[in-house]
Amino acid sequence: MSDARAPFLLRPAQQGDLTQISAIHNEVVRPSNAIFTELAETLEQRRAWFAERTAAGMPVLVACAGGEVLGFASFTQFRPWQGYRESVEQTVHVRAEHRRRGVARALLEALIAEARQRALHAIIAGIDGGNVPSIALHESLGFKQVGLLPEVAEKHGQRLDLLLMQLLLG
Ligand SMILES: CC(C)(COP(=O)(O)OP(=O)(O)OC[C@H]1O[C@@H](n2cnc3c(N)ncnc32)[C@H](O)[C@@H]1OP(=O)(O)O)[C@@H](O)C(=O)NCCC(=O)NCCS
Repeated sequence: MSDARAPFLLRPAQQGDLTQISAIHNEVVRPSNAIFTELAETLEQRRAWFAERTAAGMPVLVACAGGEVLGFASFTQFRPWQGYRESVEQTVHVRAEHRRRGVARALLEALIAEARQRALHAIIAGIDGGNVPSIALHESLGFKQVGLLPEVAEKHGQRLDLLLMQLLLG
């Protein structure tokens, strides 16, 4: 485990990162509403996700320090129809003990730069309406709140709202 204050670097994810990426995902699933499922994922599911993203040419980035994956981020086309080809939906998660040190900001800034390079037009984030840290993170990067879908999900007996935030790249 790396020092929580040690510098980190960003790089494209590799097969060897998938166990840690999956652990981060499952660490977020259990205690929070940030991901709308109660089910932990398997490593096979994460391998399939990575293979799909890679085959589609989509970025998967990790923030690392000393061999430890501190967080990861990715985007994929927002919806499958051809008309959405310039819109992507992003995801970002950071290990609990490495939060509030700029990892998510660095990952999202890199994803935004990647989206600009690809001449994409819109980045969308689907966020639990009660996820104050994520809303603040996205607002700090220029995302605007553009829609709220009340009570579209349910987790641990609680109905959850999906907040849509968007960054237009101009
Ligand atoms: C949301 C999350 C990704 C933020 O990651 P992070 O690496 O801690 O965020 P950063 O350190 O880069 O913070 C960047 C900015 O986001 C905002 N922010 C982050 N965490 C915050 C918190 N707990 N409360 C308020 N604002 C917060 C702040 O504006 C912060 O800038 P500052 O530190 O200069 O004030 C992280 O808390 C996380 O993984 N949470 C669980 C999973 C999740 O919610 N993922 C997003 C799903 S949409």
